[in-house]
Amino acid sequence: MDAGGKLCRRNVKYPSLNNFARQQPFNLGDFAPMKSVCSSHIGLVALSVVLAALIFITQNGAAEPSPGKFSVQTRDFTLNFEAEAGGRLYQHPIGADDPNAKLRRDDEFYPQAGDGYVWEPALQVTHADGNTSTALLFDDVLQTNETPDVELTRIQLHDPAYPMEVTLCFRAHRQDDVIEEWTEIRHQESKPITLERMASTSLLLTPNVYLTHFFGDWAKEMLNPITGQLTPGTEVLDSKLGVRAAQFQNPNFLLSLNGTATETNGTVLAGSLAWSGSFQLAFDDNNESVRAICGINPFASAYHLKPNETFTTPTMIWVWSSHGLGEMSRKFHDWARDFGMRDGRKTRSVLLNNWEATGFDFDFNRIVGLYDPAKALGVELFLLDDGWFGNKYPRVNDHAGLGDWQPNHSRLPDGLAPLAATAVQHGLRFGIWMEPEMVNPNSELFQEHPDWVIAQPKRDLDLQRNQLVLDLTRPEVQAFEWQSIQNILGVPDITYAKWDCNRYVTQPGSSYLAPDRQSELWIDYVHALYALMDKTAKAFPDTEMMLCSGGGGRADYGALKYFQEFWPSDNTDPVARVPMQWDYSYFFPPIAIASHVTHMGNRPMHFACSVAMSARFGMDLDLNKLSPEDKAVCAGAIAAYKNIREITLPGDLYRLEDPHDNFRGALNFVSPDKTRAVVFAFQLKDGESVPVHPQGLDPAKVYLVHELNPAPGRAAIPQEGKSLTGETLMRDGILPSCSKALEASVIELGL
Ligand code: GLA
Repeated sequence: MDAGGKLCRRNVKYPSLNNFARQQPFNLGDFAPMKSVCSSHIGLVALSVVLAALIFITQNGAAEPSPGKFSVQTRDFTLNFEAEAGGRLYQHPIGADDPNAKLRRDDEFYPQAGDGYVWEPALQVTHADGNTSTALLFDDVLQTNETPDVELTRIQLHDPAYPMEVTLCFRAHRQDDVIEEWTEIRHQESKPITLERMASTSLLLTPNVYLTHFFGDWAKEMLNPITGQLTPGTEVLDSKLGVRAAQFQNPNFLLSLNGTATETNGTVLAGSLAWSGSFQLAFDDNNESVRAICGINPFASAYHLKPNETFTTPTMIWVWSSHGLGEMSRKFHDWARDFGMRDGRKTRSVLLNNWEATGFDFDFNRIVGLYDPAKALGVELFLLDDGWFGNKYPRVNDHAGLGDWQPNHSRLPDGLAPLAATAVQHGLRFGIWMEPEMVNPNSELFQEHPDWVIAQPKRDLDLQRNQLVLDLTRPEVQAFEWQSIQNILGVPDITYAKWDCNRYVTQPGSSYLAPDRQSELWIDYVHALYALMDKTAKAFPDTEMMLCSGGGGRADYGALKYFQEFWPSDNTDPVARVPMQWDYSYFFPPIAIASHVTHMGNRPMHFACSVAMSARFGMDLDLNKLSPEDKAVCAGAIAAYKNIREITLPGDLYRLEDPHDNFRGALNFVSPDKTRAVVFAFQLKDGESVPVHPQGLDPAKVYLVHELNPAPGRAAIPQEGKSLTGETLMRDGILPSCSKALEASVIELGL
């Protein structure tokens, strides 16, 4: 070990493990370095290499692991690794009973293609000389405490035949039982190497794993959870959309070990890939173990890595619970509020969006006309949606204007500033919609720069929603988008923005990238996008941002860290939102899930408001057209929401009654100090009036029961006004006021 704590790890030859078939378990202790040829101090260095590989550095007081074995550990979740000097790195499958079980070649961690491993690899490289094999040998592991609760583990590997290094990184959040995992790859070969596949993770589990994943489509995001036992073979879930993670398949999934899990029982591992582009989640079951290999989709994405550059994979987020899905989500939410999103501990303003109210049909006066009624109702923030820009090609419908980010002269003669200033004069914050990555062919931008779009030469332009994606790998496009964003968000009094992305890539061609680098478009695009989002978040720290992608196409933690919330779906029908928001809540805290009251589905206003109140509440209604009755319901909902948002936004979520194929959905939130709670019951079909049983209350505390914003004409709930202990409430339940389809009940349990 040198003075800086680095370990000598070069020039040592080790026995090849290539001949180990999977039927031949071996004891890692059987291996020893054959020969050391460090250029100087041979004997000493040889010794230090052996020692270095056997000694695992632990800093800042963490426990000293045994030689050859080490683990990445949170409170309840442990990844056990094993390696020997100069040998390969192995993982004991999660769920394995015997931590001393003999390991097999199949148990190699982060397996590489081309040198003996025959299953789905985590890494596949073509070296500068054309060799398609890679072998990774263990060098050392470094564990450091980033904070008292967060430990970073960096496992160093190298290829003995090539100057290539791989660092496997794990950030363990002890209290939240969350492990973030990613990989760094670099080399000093004479020319670029080609990364054919480079997974973020390759965790091994014992068999008998159930996978829950979510297939959907536009307006059907997360509505269709599918659970099944993994069987031998490889199950692949993926997306090939380029500039967004999801439309059909979602990058979030659940694994339950030893049988399916319930909200309160079962061992669960939730996985979420933080990547807003094409992804692949492969579950490789070889009968002996199951491997989850998740990362960037290798499909058409060969990446040329130059010498001395580091490729960092997207982060995989793993969340563990031994007590079912509910506990898993509460830990996930806690982690997300602190590390996965912006301002996860700040409250949120009640928002009114004009999209459902006006669509593209508005001008200055029509928008200003919405302010007074909004303020009167209790709204705190107004969001102006699509349609405010474009002059030669005005954005009066979705056929024109994208790319021309100048306010439309006839609609907004003095630009955005007076609109924002007037909102502030009316006591409202002001927000704006933008879609900086897109262009309509009917735009001045496209006419000036037809080569700036992602398209394939010799093919007709493939439009989606009449638009094209700008090629963010091109520096001029990066500069243009950054300038557009600054121009828009720099307008005084704009403190909120919705960043949209209404199409995906169908013709992955770049006129900027050289012909032999076309396959890098998918990855370089997302990296450039994150650079832009990062700059935006840093330059406008007080501007709250909503992440939207034609609905929920970017509901992923890769982008969310630059945003305060995401738009889960263009489907705002509350009947769909009850199960949809239930499913999103496995992975995302309700503070991040935008939930707006609209007329979609023509549901009763009380039901629509109650559903929206269970996440990040907003409205998308023409308030001037509401009946007096609906207006009163909305005003009551806003007042109630302002009362309970200090419970729902930072609080613990308990999912009580699954709305999928059920007559009712129910959940409750408990404030962090357990002094307050709120129960939601959403009646989806007519049913018997049965109590809802809240969870997570303090059994000894006394709670005052009070239905919030009760639906007009319904009898008070039997426990209204009663003070009951948490124990009684959890045991006997609360009878909500809803029993008929499309009725809802929101009940506060307070001081
Ligand atoms: C997308 C969004 C909508 C709205 C429109 C505007 O579809 O999901 O909420 O902003 O774009 O064009």
